[in-house]
Amino acid sequence: MGLEEAHRELKIAPDEFDEVAAEVGRTLDFFEVPPAEKGEVLAAFAAHKDEVTTGYQDAH
Ligand code: HEM
Repeated sequence: MGLEEAHRELKIAPDEFDEVAAEVGRTLDFFEVPPAEKGEVLAAFAAHKDEVTTGYQDAH
């Protein structure tokens, strides 16, 4: 199953996606993950925003 199908029914809004990304960032800070690795994780997460939020976009 692709990411679009896996998340479609969840109807995740772009703002909700961004807040989850911010929470991941705060968590990486809490565990003192260095900036380079933190950036890699957040970039990998953000790279899939369109696929993960497609269910919300279809409904609006
Ligand atoms: C706000 C952001 C996200 C939320 C709230 C979220 C939530 C979820 C939930 C609840 C499921 C389980 C769906 C089900 O079994 O019915 C799921 C599955 C999955 N998610 Fe996410 N997700 C998010 C972002 C992402 C991102 C950015 C990625 C990849 C970089 C990702 C990768 C996956 C994968 C691989 C699965 C399993 C798909 C499968 O069963 O084949 N998710 N997600």
